[in-house]
Amino acid sequence: MTTQQPTAEGASTGSGAESLTVVDNRTGQSYELPITDGTVRATDLRQIKTDPDDFGVMTYDPAFMNTAACRSEVTFLDGERGILRYRGYPIEQLAENSSFLEVAYLLLEGELPSKDELEQWEHDITHHTFVHENVRRLMEGFRYDAHPMGMLQAGVAALSTFYPESKEIDDPENRRRQIIRLIAKMPTLGAFGYRHSQGMPFVYPRNELSYSANFLSMLFEIGVKDYTPDPRLVRALDVLFILHADHEQNCSTSSVRAVGSSQADPYSSVSAGIGALYGPLHGGANEAVLQMLRRIEKVENVPDFLEAVKNRKELLMGFGHRVYKNFDPRATIIKKATDEVFEVTGVNPLLKIALELEKHALEEDFFVERKLYPNVDFYSGLIYEALGMPTEMFTVLFAIGRTPGWVAQWNEMLNDKEQKIARPRQVYVGSGERDYVPVASR
Ligand code: CMC
Repeated sequence: MTTQQPTAEGASTGSGAESLTVVDNRTGQSYELPITDGTVRATDLRQIKTDPDDFGVMTYDPAFMNTAACRSEVTFLDGERGILRYRGYPIEQLAENSSFLEVAYLLLEGELPSKDELEQWEHDITHHTFVHENVRRLMEGFRYDAHPMGMLQAGVAALSTFYPESKEIDDPENRRRQIIRLIAKMPTLGAFGYRHSQGMPFVYPRNELSYSANFLSMLFEIGVKDYTPDPRLVRALDVLFILHADHEQNCSTSSVRAVGSSQADPYSSVSAGIGALYGPLHGGANEAVLQMLRRIEKVENVPDFLEAVKNRKELLMGFGHRVYKNFDPRATIIKKATDEVFEVTGVNPLLKIALELEKHALEEDFFVERKLYPNVDFYSGLIYEALGMPTEMFTVLFAIGRTPGWVAQWNEMLNDKEQKIARPRQVYVGSGERDYVPVASR
């Protein structure tokens, strides 16, 4: 077990011998704190006081660098060893053998579905892909140049007004219905946003197509009756969705959990996750990678660009990760998928620049010392572009893929008796009490 991974396998189940002795040098008093699963409870520190009126010791952890906020059975991640597993299954095996909807079921239910369960699940998702016509009109109301992520976030939030019963979060059946709706309608909303930004008529879902094929059809069908996407591209998209499906307590998932902890409905909670994902340090990085590659323009400019990164004038987008400090297993799978996609679409000329950047960065001290490696976003944008997506759509694709993870984590949180409304503490460092000064006297 690594110290960075308190929830890793083989962790202690917390026998009595597992404890931490803390000596408060202010008072000389010593405290014994139980260690469970490699963690001490932050609230156990509150007993450490200088006098009875003292609030007690708190932990200070900006950006949650070393704080576990929940117990989870959904995803196991070991950043040092580059391991990612959904419900115990290695990501490599799922990417090779599974489908996105099967993975979604696995994340939610904890087990792979039987054949009948899978068929029923696929049927349920397929038959919830349509949105109310007023949602379509809502999407039409955006400005012509609205970013598809903003449209997606607003569209998902709006769904809570179409399904007011989604507030009944204590009813597991009701929760499941909303979860199905969310997974089913995300591609429809994403595609409507895209079509709107292109000034193209919206394409309605087609039930005879798979999840990913239907999404491509809603995006790209124009002037043909039965648009059929290339099955190799459909598979590549499905794999990309699988790779994005969950990533334990990342920024957007934590946002979904935090909003959901106030007992908000799932649409409001997931729209908060979409907002978090939108940022360039999170899901927005795939869009930023493509913009960066375009700015670099040609392979010869790579050394200068890397110099600018080392001089802190640029960030190497698509590199680095809060948790992975060796390699991102998703990036390895995506790199392989790029070859397969490029066989169908022809090679994206930006690939050369990306490969050159990676080659240099993996050798240069600045990146090696900081353990900076390509993350999931480094190559995914190249595939999205090869599939015909404009860069603004990249993060939408990430959001569609991440939805099963968001709702699985939301559901898990609601079933967790230990969870309460999320409410971090602060260390107040502002002014002491002072008297109000009327504006004329300031
Ligand atoms: N380019 C240049 N320097 C970097 C980069 C980068 N992409 N990432 C980290 N560093 C440097 C950083 O300046 C710091 O250097 P120093 O210790 O000298 O001050 C050191 O590496 C450690 O970085 P950090 O910012 O403390 O690490 P973090 O865990 O807070 O940040 C990160 C992780 C992903 C936000 C960051 O690596 C980053 O900004 N990467 C670029 C954006 C990106 O690709 N994001 C996608 C993440 S993967 C998909 C997802 O989960 O959404």
